[in-house]
Amino acid sequence: MLVRQGLIPAAGSGTRLGPFTNAIPKELLPVGEKAVIEHVVEAMAGAGIEEIAIVVSPHKHGLSDYLGSGKRFGVTCTYVVQDERLGLANAVAAGEHVIDGTFAVVLGDNFFAPTTFLADLIAFHTSRHADATVGVAEVADVTRHGIIRPDGDRILGMVEKPAPEEAPSRLGAIGAYVFEKNIFDAIGRTEPGYKGEYQLTDSIGREIEEGKRVLYRQINGIHIDVGTPHDLMRANEWYLRENGHEKKGHPRTIQDGRP
Ligand code: UTP
Repeated sequence: MLVRQGLIPAAGSGTRLGPFTNAIPKELLPVGEKAVIEHVVEAMAGAGIEEIAIVVSPHKHGLSDYLGSGKRFGVTCTYVVQDERLGLANAVAAGEHVIDGTFAVVLGDNFFAPTTFLADLIAFHTSRHADATVGVAEVADVTRHGIIRPDGDRILGMVEKPAPEEAPSRLGAIGAYVFEKNIFDAIGRTEPGYKGEYQLTDSIGREIEEGKRVLYRQINGIHIDVGTPHDLMRANEWYLRENGHEKKGHPRTIQDGRP
C-alpha cells in the first residue's frame, strides 16, 4: 500500500543551538550543501510521499522561504502551525486537519543516511498491518531517547528519556515513525509528561495500552540528531567525507554520543 503523506515537526525552539536559532530555524542549518530538513524531505519524496505537512511555529520564520511549495523536490508542502511549543505529540496533532490516512513522521532536525531508511520503514508498517511503527536503533545514551520494551517485533511499552538503570532496553526511538490516523485519538488522550510536555512516546504508550498493534523496526545506517553544535558538526563531517573528494565508503552505523 502506498503512503502518500508525511509530517515533519519543525516548531521547536532549538535552544541548544542558540544563538544561531535566534535568527534561523535549526532545521535550516546545513548538513553539507543542504539544510538538514531538505535531507528529510528527500527521504520522504524517495519513499513515494507526495504531500508533506511541515509543522512550523509562529515565532520561527524561513522554512517556507527555503522549501517553498515543495515543487523542486517533487512534493507538495503544506505549512501547519503549532501555536506553542508544547511537545512532539502536540506538534503532530497540529497536522491532524491535513492528514487523511497512513502517514510518516520524521523529525526535521534529524539527519539519516542512506535516505532509503524511510521507504523500508513504510514497507514494514504496511506489510505488517501495524497501527504504529517506531523506527529504533541501539542508542549509546538512553537518556536522550524514548526507549522501547520489545517483544518480537512488538512494543510492549515505552519510557521517555529514562535513567540508565530504568531503561527497558537499549533500543531507542530515533525520530522516524509511521502512524495510522488513530494516533490523533491517542494524542487527544495524552497528559503532559516528561518536562510538562505532550510526549509522542506517551501517546504511543496509550495506543499500546488500548491494544493497538504497535511495532518497531530497526533502522541501520547513520542517524544524527543535529540538536547541538557538536552533533551538527559531526553530521557535516560525515556528509562531507562521504560526498566530498574522498572515495565513497559504505556507511558505518553511527549513533548519538559516538565519535
Ligand atoms: P527537540 O526535542 O530537539 O526540541 O525537537 P527543540 O525545542 O527543537 O530544541 P531544544 O531542546 O530547545 O534545543 C525535535 C524536533 O521536534 C520539533 C523540533 O522543531 C525538532 O525538529 N518540535 C519539538 C516541534 O515541532 N514542536 C515541539 O513542541 C517540540
